[in-house]
Amino acid sequence: MNFENILVEQNNSLATITINRPKKLNALNKNTIAELHEAFKALESDENVKVILLTGSGEKAFVAGADISEFAHFSEEEGGRLAAKGQELLFDYVENLSTPVIALVNGFALGGGLELAMSCHFRIASDNARMGLPETSLGVIPGYGGTQRLPLLIGKGKAMELIMTAGMIGAEEAKSYGLVNYVVSQEELLPLGEKLAGKIMKNSSVAISKAIKAINACFTDGENGYQTEINAFGECFGTEDFKEGTTAFLEKRKPDFPNK
Ligand code: COA
Repeated sequence: MNFENILVEQNNSLATITINRPKKLNALNKNTIAELHEAFKALESDENVKVILLTGSGEKAFVAGADISEFAHFSEEEGGRLAAKGQELLFDYVENLSTPVIALVNGFALGGGLELAMSCHFRIASDNARMGLPETSLGVIPGYGGTQRLPLLIGKGKAMELIMTAGMIGAEEAKSYGLVNYVVSQEELLPLGEKLAGKIMKNSSVAISKAIKAINACFTDGENGYQTEINAFGECFGTEDFKEGTTAFLEKRKPDFPNK
């Protein structure tokens, strides 16, 4: 896959997407969002890909936000469309991807950058990472799901504070709120991502995709997550992975999942 603003690498079952606009601190412009959509779509449909890591190029930023230069002169209508299109193409899309996506937050994750990290299934950060939703300092609010996902992850009070103050928090504070799962040095970030991906890959990718769906249902308005879980649980019994997983356990051997 050849793109202008992102790099996509594939190493056996692990894919890594690197947002690659370091001179603009990897800010998300329209083209980058479109490319990310294409990359995620292609990787999800590739049955060899079991886990996707998402990071930013350079040592300074994961993503420093939506590209302010692109929307500074937008009208109300254009602003609404920007948020809707972005959520459809990228943020909601990543959250609902059936392939697990881990954000490796390697520096600034601000505005759309933190919103993108929050759309991923979970996050790990390097110790230099700085996170925040500074939109109110620009006269706008988070528009890529930030007002919804941040309270879910860190609670309403802290989310209110972070959004109203437009402040930034460091990696350790983010970890203490549950926003990121681990904090390591920059050098250790990719190895830790690969290690966690390795653990995930040992399990049934069919079961994992159903788990993602069921967990997301917990946070979807109007959806009965318990019922979603019951349905998905039942469906697992019809998969080859379930037969292999249970048979391997009874035969006291490690499973070799066909991922079907
Ligand atoms: N959109 C567009 N360009 C951005 C950007 C964004 N969100 N964030 C950074 N850039 C650009 C800068 O304009 C600058 O470009 P230039 O060299 O052509 O002038 C380049 O990236 C480097 O950024 P700079 O501000 O010089 O780096 P810094 O180390 O002094 O500051 C930040 C880093 C992250 C604190 C600062 O860039 C910043 O506040 N960015 C905006 C964050 C934000 O509000 N995001 C939410 C958007 S909704």
